[in-house]
Amino acid sequence: MSRSLSKYAPVFLFLALSGVIFLLRNIHSVEKWNCHTISTLYRLQSRIQSSLIPANLPAIYRNHTFCAQLGQKPSPEDELEERYLLDSIAWPGPAPRSTPTALPQTSDPVRSLFTILPSKRGREWHVGDQLEALVQMRDFQGRLKRYGGDFLLARLHSPELGAGVAGKVLDHRSGLYSASFPLLWEGPAQVEVTLVHPSEAVAVLQRLREERSDRVYFQSMFRLGSMSETTVCNICLPPNQQPLCNYTDLNTGEPWYCYKPKMLSCDTRINHAKGGFLKHLITNKEALLFQSGVNLKVHIHASGPDRIMVLPPRKGTLETSGYYYRDSWRPLGGTEMRQFNESSAITQCLRNKVVNMYGDSTVRQWFQYLIESTPELKEFNLQSPKNVGPFMAVDSTHNILLKYRCHGPPIRFSTVMSSELRYISNELDGLPGGPNTVVVLSIWAHFSTFPVEVYIRRLRHIRRALVRLLDRAPGTMVVIRSANLQALEQDVSLYNSDWFSVQLDEVLRAMFKGLNVLLVDAWQMTLAHRLPHALHPHTTIIKNMVDMLLSHVCPENKKS
Ligand SMILES: *[C@@H]1O[C@H](CO)[C@@H](O)[C@H](O)[C@H]1NC(C)=O
Ligand SMILES: *[C@@H]1O[C@H](CO)[C@@H](O)[C@H](O)[C@H]1NC(C)=O
Ligand SMILES: *[C@@H]1O[C@H](CO)[C@@H](O)[C@H](O)[C@H]1NC(C)=O
Repeated sequence: MSRSLSKYAPVFLFLALSGVIFLLRNIHSVEKWNCHTISTLYRLQSRIQSSLIPANLPAIYRNHTFCAQLGQKPSPEDELEERYLLDSIAWPGPAPRSTPTALPQTSDPVRSLFTILPSKRGREWHVGDQLEALVQMRDFQGRLKRYGGDFLLARLHSPELGAGVAGKVLDHRSGLYSASFPLLWEGPAQVEVTLVHPSEAVAVLQRLREERSDRVYFQSMFRLGSMSETTVCNICLPPNQQPLCNYTDLNTGEPWYCYKPKMLSCDTRINHAKGGFLKHLITNKEALLFQSGVNLKVHIHASGPDRIMVLPPRKGTLETSGYYYRDSWRPLGGTEMRQFNESSAITQCLRNKVVNMYGDSTVRQWFQYLIESTPELKEFNLQSPKNVGPFMAVDSTHNILLKYRCHGPPIRFSTVMSSELRYISNELDGLPGGPNTVVVLSIWAHFSTFPVEVYIRRLRHIRRALVRLLDRAPGTMVVIRSANLQALEQDVSLYNSDWFSVQLDEVLRAMFKGLNVLLVDAWQMTLAHRLPHALHPHTTIIKNMVDMLLSHVCPENKKS
């Protein structure tokens, strides 16, 4: 390690230096910057302990009324990365405080329209080409919108072919948006554009995220003998109100606090649970911005045709993570997709493997899917609470061990015993790893109520642990499941909107880019599919995700 380092030291130094200079010059316009560079930069720097970062970088807006302290102060390198990531997800549109909230002036999906733009050859498209549509937003009085920030989703699909692919939306910040789609199949293709939230509603969500991290609250029970007390807990609690118990993780510095019980001491905490959701977070006027069927996940119509016929390929380059065809996901780039329809194929693939799943309920679904579709993989009864875990399944004939454990606080599960409350990075540090070890992670849904920094820091600890794991046990296979779309109504939006998820998801992709891990693009896999969005996607979609996982673990050529 140190030998190879000295060999490459000049290269590292050059890369690091040019990266820093580039970043400083572009600190306000880094959206287009390739994040791979920053991840690489980060890793190189963390290895050579560079002291190239000046202390006085331009200050960034962060001002959390509720959550002023988010744990330990990050190192200068970490802070640089954090600023880059926050800049890269900066949302266009009006500032949260100056946004009109009177409904008539806000985006109306019914009066807004999209138009399919002609191709270079008029109305002739081939597989491999790109299709573009222009969306023009209007308000409830039919006036053109003059600023951006609306959260739009776009999908190209063909019900008759069971085909679908996610589109990319570009905000021109003028009330105009472009949606672009790769053309990947021959035949009919239909554009679908959805307004998830008007920009004015996003501004409300932005404010909630920065100022009301307490809108989902947690609690712990403390018990000693026959005495018990329950208090409120969170990543941070308003100071100077009551004494606190400090459960900050000593390894990672991940913060966690509970109010100290009146009678009992802090070390009598026995569990952790979701307390509940605060109500009355928004005014009646703001509530009008979150109306199902009016301005919350509503389709935008086409001003002309919304369908095209795609002709056989000429040639072109593709930039998307995959698409559905005949209801099967076809990933582009890298993984060759195999279908694991029979339980024997799954068993064969996982033979002699230990699969460790960590995270929220969206990866627990993968665990469930595997045990339900593989009768020989028997769940071992650990007497764990339902839906919480930890869970374990064993196939002793084929020497397969499958495990699931939820991530640490702020996990919103019903009741997790204190002794089972673990941070993923600490768990990874306890894994020997190796070619027979598979690690699957999914961590996003329970971070939507916090400022993005909380998520960045959590992922950073996980990334460090993964780098250590892959260094000590290079054959270890790591699969990361991204966030997915979900059904939204007003209440759900304030805690769990897809807007929070898309922001976290971009951070997730950026932070694990360049690492030897497979990203299963649950975002595109739920966006491209014809089934309605759901926090826990339908089994059809889960099968495609698990097939991705298994195809990565058992590529075609290694089938034997
Ligand atoms: C946060 O912003 C408010 C209003 O803009 C200001 O009064 C307050 O001092 C700021 N707090 C911090 C910690 O910067
Ligand atoms: C909680 O403990 C951590 C680690 O010991 C420490 O860094 C932090 O300052 C403590 N928090 C408070 C509010 O005392
Ligand atoms: C798996 O099932 C799908 C859908 O029924 C089918 O199209 C595909 O050919 C099958 N694949 C294999 C390898 O059996």
